[in-house]
Order: sequence, then C-alpha cells, then structure tokens
Amino acid sequence: MTRTRNIAILGATGSIGRSTLDVAARHPNRYRIVALTACRKVEELADLCSRHGAAYACIADVSLAPALERQLKALGAPTKVLAGAAGLLEVATLPEVDCVMAAIVGGAGLASTLAAARAGKKLLLANKEALVMAGPVFMETVRRHGSVLLPIDSEHNAVFQCLPPAFLAANFDNAGIRRILLTGSGGPFRSRARSDLRHVTPEEACAHPNWVMGKKISVDSATMMNKGLEVIEAHWLFGAKAHQIQVVVHPQSVIHSMVEYTDGSVIAQMGNPDMRTPIAQALAFPERIEAGVSSLDLFTTGSLTFEAPDFERFPALRLAYQALDENGTAPTILNAANEVAVAAFLERRLSFLHITAVIEETMQGIAATAMRSVEDVVAADSAARLRAAEIVRRLGAQVP
Ligand SMILES: NC(=O)c1ccc[n+]([C@@H]2O[C@H](COP(=O)([O-])OP(=O)(O)OC[C@H]3O[C@@H](n4cnc5c(N)ncnc54)[C@H](OP(=O)(O)O)[C@@H]3O)[C@@H](O)[C@H]2O)c1
Repeated sequence: MTRTRNIAILGATGSIGRSTLDVAARHPNRYRIVALTACRKVEELADLCSRHGAAYACIADVSLAPALERQLKALGAPTKVLAGAAGLLEVATLPEVDCVMAAIVGGAGLASTLAAARAGKKLLLANKEALVMAGPVFMETVRRHGSVLLPIDSEHNAVFQCLPPAFLAANFDNAGIRRILLTGSGGPFRSRARSDLRHVTPEEACAHPNWVMGKKISVDSATMMNKGLEVIEAHWLFGAKAHQIQVVVHPQSVIHSMVEYTDGSVIAQMGNPDMRTPIAQALAFPERIEAGVSSLDLFTTGSLTFEAPDFERFPALRLAYQALDENGTAPTILNAANEVAVAAFLERRLSFLHITAVIEETMQGIAATAMRSVEDVVAADSAARLRAAEIVRRLGAQVP
C-alpha cells in the first residue's frame, strides 16, 4: 500500500500552487496537505487552507498575519499562522513534511527553496529563478543533503522523462547523450516584427497562446527570457554545456522537449499543455497517477511544426546564453535585472522593448564574479537590482 505523503506548497495561491492542489486532491489517500504559503492573498490562502485541511499557513507579508488569523477563524479552520521570511523557512523544513513544492515566483523563493534542499526534502522545483541565480550553490546543497530534486518546468520535466532513469546532473557526455532540444511556443509575439512590439501592453504580453500562467512568467515568455532562463536551468539540472542545449520553437506546445542520443535517436515527451502533467509525474515519481489531463488528440492537433529561434528579434535568449557562457554570478545579474524590468513593465513604468535593454545594460555595468556561497549570490543579486532600478528610472521616462 502507498504511504501517505505530507506536502508543503510554497506559493500555493499561484498558478502552479493551485494546479498542485488540484492534482493532490484527486488522491486523498496518497497526499496530505500540511502547509500552504502566499505573499499577500490572505483570503485565497485562508480558503485553500480551510478546503485542504492545512495545519500551517504562512503569509510572506508579515503585516497581513492578523488578517489571515481573522480569516481562518471566520472559516473555522484550526490552521496555525506563520509569517515572513522565518515562516517560509519553517514551512520548508517542517519535520512532518516529505515533499516541498517550490512555486514562489522569482528570487523571493530562493531562501525557502534552498532551506527545503538543506532539510533533505523531496523538492519539486517550479521556481526556476532560484536555480538560475544560484546554480552551483543550489546543486551542491541538493547533493550534500541528499534532497531528491525533480523538475516541474514542463520542458525540464520532459527532458527528465526522456533521459535514462534518475539522471540528474550526471555525466552528460558519458551517458551517450548528444544534446537537449528545449522546445518553446515562441510566446504571443512569435510572428510579430520587433518594430511592432514598441507599444505592447502588459495585457497583450500576458496573453500566452497555449499556457495559462502567472504574470511574470507570461512576460518572460513574451520576451523569450523564459526560454533563456530554462537554458540555464537545463545546464544545472542535467550537466549539459551551452552548445548541447538547442532551443526549438514549436508553436503547438505538444512536444515539451526532446533528448538526442549519440546513436541518432531522438526521444520526445508529448502531451496537452497542462502543468498538471509534470506536477503529477514529479509528485508520484517513479509511479504514475491520474492528473485530470485530457488525452492528446493527434488528429485534432494535425501537424507539428518547428522553427529556429530568432536571436535578433528576441535578444533575451542571446543574453541568457551569454550569461551562461560568462558563468559565476552572470546568471544572477541577468535574473535580477529581468525581475526588476518585468515588474516595471507590468506596472507600466517601462516599455516592452526596454526590458531587454535594462538587462543588457545591467550586465554590461556589473562585472560577474565567482560564485562560492549564498552570500555571493545575494551580493550580486542586490547590486544588479539597484543598477537595474536606476536604468529603469532613466528609460522609464521614455515610455510612450
Ligand atoms: N505557471 C506555470 O505554468 C509555470 C510553468 C513552469 C514554471 N513556472 C515557475 O513557477 C513559479 C511560479 O509561477 P506561477 O506562474 O505559479 O506564479 P504566480 O501565479 O504569480 O504565483 C506566485 C506565487 O508566489 C507567491 N509570491 C509572490 N511573491 C512572493 C514573495 N515575495 N514572497 C513569498 N511568496 C511570493 C504568490 O503569492 P500571492 O498570490 O499572495 O501573490 C503566489 O503564491 C515561477 O518561478 C515560474 O517561473 C510556472
């Protein structure tokens, strides 16, 4: 009989958090929700805790803890309230928790995700920014503390499924692998000229053709920085060098990625674009469970098409490869500048095309250094955020 697994979800009110709850709720004998977190969405968090019987709720914004207490009391939920950075760390390391879903968006998720790894938890990684900004430190923490790391990003989860069993950061070259083919839809502006993108709004950028996601990752998909972050993520997860990771634009989002072997075999993982598939795969690994995802109808899909990525129209992809090549804290700087620029774009303080301009100028202005510790990551991240904010203020004055 399968043992019930205790789950904590960091970022429960988000798109990945809710999909995780949906999958877990289909298997009440397998999964018990122990702890849920949010940043500011008090009502949603209280409602989720009440519905899923969570023992702990953590709200990252400390000032909202009393409101969360009141809300839970009104719902009659006996959930214990935690708050702030300390609360997130407590949730990530609760002794009774077996499995942590890391689904906070951005660098804000780094500390709690690392804490879960340090506590040796089974770690389901959606928070790609944490791995991008702290690659070697992150992977060393996972290794040293015996954490089981499973990728949730659909592309990396697909690669994981196409690789030999339990292959993570093993020796890529000795495993008979030639390269990873990382697919991406191309986002909402795939076929638009760069000059057409000057006046796009946050609403247009967030209207992804195939996936329903949070706002930050939706904008990243529109600039193709999401694919750039994923190239760096693939490097750390699978030990592939930059030239062994090929981005393939695949507008239908049916093939979620592929692995090419030295004998010429190319293995692809396919399915409808629904994040519940990778979430279920990782939750149940090495078993398989029902995820509520409909069957892939190949007759309706018709044809699958592929294009080379356009590095001129989407310079974010070029910048990500450049950061990977520079190594050290370069990806940390890239990620921090991107987060600052995307936030400014969503608040209409920066134009869409200026997002990559901010990243490029930040990377030029701050020299990457070696990354040996979390302190190196935090220092590079803070410096890049300050610099990027200055550039946003200057370029923001030119918002059309
Ligand atoms: N959505 C997808 O399909 C998808 C696919 C692959 C990978 N991912 C990755 O998964 C992560 C989550 O994406 P998402 O689309 O689910 O994002 P989302 O819908 O924006 O949800 C983000 C979650 O993080 C919480 N949060 C935001 N800022 C925080 C902070 N400063 N401190 C603590 N918690 C904070 C939010 O709480 P509030 O709701 O209270 O703001 C929410 O629970 C991202 O790293 C993304 O790249 C997402």
